[in-house]
Amino acid sequence: MRLPFADHFIFFRQFRERFKTTGAIAPSSGFLARAMTGPLKQHAGPTRILEIGPGTGAVTRHIVRAVKEHDRFDLVELNERFAGLLQDRFRTDPTYARVADRSEVHVCPLQEFKAEAPYDIVISGLPLNNFPADLVRTIFKSYFDLLAPGGVLSYFEYMYVRPMRKSICRGAERERLTSLDETMNSYIEKHRFKKSWVFVNLPPAWVQHLRKDADESASDTSSAVGSETK
Ligand SMILES: C[S@@+](CC[C@H](N)C(=O)[O-])C[C@H]1O[C@@H](n2cnc3c(N)ncnc32)[C@H](O)[C@@H]1O
Repeated sequence: MRLPFADHFIFFRQFRERFKTTGAIAPSSGFLARAMTGPLKQHAGPTRILEIGPGTGAVTRHIVRAVKEHDRFDLVELNERFAGLLQDRFRTDPTYARVADRSEVHVCPLQEFKAEAPYDIVISGLPLNNFPADLVRTIFKSYFDLLAPGGVLSYFEYMYVRPMRKSICRGAERERLTSLDETMNSYIEKHRFKKSWVFVNLPPAWVQHLRKDADESASDTSSAVGSETK
């Protein structure tokens, strides 16, 4: 399942034009996509799936293959170029078209996305290391608001990027990175059930798999954030 070369080209262009929100020079590898979709493939019964930050669809192409008859698949992408490419694919690519009646690409930042109901599986490719600390706090709250009780969040982060950046940065940037560590670690300590190491990716990445407690209510399925990342 190789990515079309055109996708790499489009992705690289968006990386240059919108570095902060694109956050990587290349789409995720098939190895990373498989690690991200592991919990989805194990989930039985009708499943509500949300992908956040699909980009050119490196992970999406693995998700669409796993979507079953009674599932629902929503995608939230703030970059119109990426969103348009995926919308086309749901119309023209047979693998995507098979599930087009159960899928929708929402062109907006996660911060503005209003879900109709909570999700069993949330898969996020957001480049959290590039975001302000208050936005990362709000995004994690949104992730967990969007999850149904017992639902699973899978997200990736590039290996050792934060500790390395922290060792060379000072002042406000160092404070931002420390705050990101605190936010992510607070969720990881409470909710992580698995961490996957993916070396075949540019750069190598960890996938964090977190589960919302089964007795935690999905109090609020809407997301509301005050910061701008564009
Ligand atoms: C690192 S790329 C990941 C792309 C793809 N999932 C992959 O693994 O190759 C990050 C993606 O998140 C999107 N993005 C960034 N901030 C976002 C936000 N606040 N809401 C929705 N999408 C966002 C970017 O436009 C980009 O497509």
